[in-house]
Amino acid sequence: MSWRSLLDGLRLWARFRFSPGALRDLRRVGRLAEGVLGARTLTAARELGLFGALGEGGATTSELARRLGVPGPALRVLLDSCLHFGLLKRRGERLVPASLVTRLLDGPGGLGPALEGLVSSTLRAAPSAVARIRDGRAPRGFYEGMERADPDGIREYARFLDAAAEGPSRVLAGAADLAGARSLLDVGGGLGRFSQAFTARFPDLRATVAELPAVCPLAEEALRARGAARVSVLPLDFRKDPLPAGHDAVLFARVLHDWDQDTVRRLLREAHRVLTGAGRLLVFEILRDRDLGNGAAVVLAQWEVLLGSSGEIRTEGDYRTLLAEAGFQDVQLARPFDPLGRNALVTARRV
Ligand SMILES: C[S@@+](CC[C@H](N)C(=O)[O-])C[C@H]1O[C@@H](n2cnc3c(N)ncnc32)[C@H](O)[C@@H]1O
Repeated sequence: MSWRSLLDGLRLWARFRFSPGALRDLRRVGRLAEGVLGARTLTAARELGLFGALGEGGATTSELARRLGVPGPALRVLLDSCLHFGLLKRRGERLVPASLVTRLLDGPGGLGPALEGLVSSTLRAAPSAVARIRDGRAPRGFYEGMERADPDGIREYARFLDAAAEGPSRVLAGAADLAGARSLLDVGGGLGRFSQAFTARFPDLRATVAELPAVCPLAEEALRARGAARVSVLPLDFRKDPLPAGHDAVLFARVLHDWDQDTVRRLLREAHRVLTGAGRLLVFEILRDRDLGNGAAVVLAQWEVLLGSSGEIRTEGDYRTLLAEAGFQDVQLARPFDPLGRNALVTARRV
């Protein structure tokens, strides 16, 4: 903080008049600051290995300082902050990780790495966010560099996606009706979680995960390790390769929002072409309800898309129009994920 900004802040305080309206505004400023502090707290705690060092039995501040090999007073600031954000709780004299940490953030498949990724990409993206809004030009899509990206990076990205797909894939397989279907094409299917969940629910179903060549060996390895027998993997680039024909169902799970209107139109036409009979199309996406005022989940998704692709977060109406244009009928929408988010399953039939 510079002297000038400190002085400006002090001058503002000197003029500040407490009134209900002013206090409400102050709380809103507090909310803005909390986002930054939350990011700082979470990254520092995870980088130090704080949650692991606490263990299940927890620790006092001095025990924890000894375990981490750090001085106590500075650690206390972080602990206070963790208590504030509900990352830790007290058990007598000891601090233990809160259920938020054990259930959602830490451990295999936890959301911790995703949140850390979000914090660092947000910090890195600050200048490009302004440039993107100023010139309105879409950035080079994230996936365009995928084939040349470092293999460890691709593995890490795919693992993160896979972890984030585990819960939704089970919910989606439970909500979708694929009775009688024998062949599912899972376009941009990642490491195959959705295909696996669908084939587990429908015993006559076989699935094909169509993915970029760089992702395919990882998908094969993950499917083998999880014992998913009826799922195969097909390398392709859906921007230029045709989709393979002859399926009773085609799934786009969290794929279309990353692509511009022309690409989405082409992909949906392709899906229509490769489906057989009254084959079903399933689109699993986060939707926005209105132009402005969509809430945190949509705001977050919109930023990610704005900075990382040429796509957009669309409305139910947008998908209805796109599906009708591609020739689909009987468009229906289900929200099996609420109240957790704005994710929806849009389904349609080929004829
Ligand atoms: C956001 S992820 C969704 C993965 C999975 N369907 C899920 O919901 O967890 C988008 C997926 O599309 C794949 N993808 C991107 N561009 C592709 C392309 N041109 N051809 C095939 N797959 C592509 C990516 O590799 C990635 O796995």
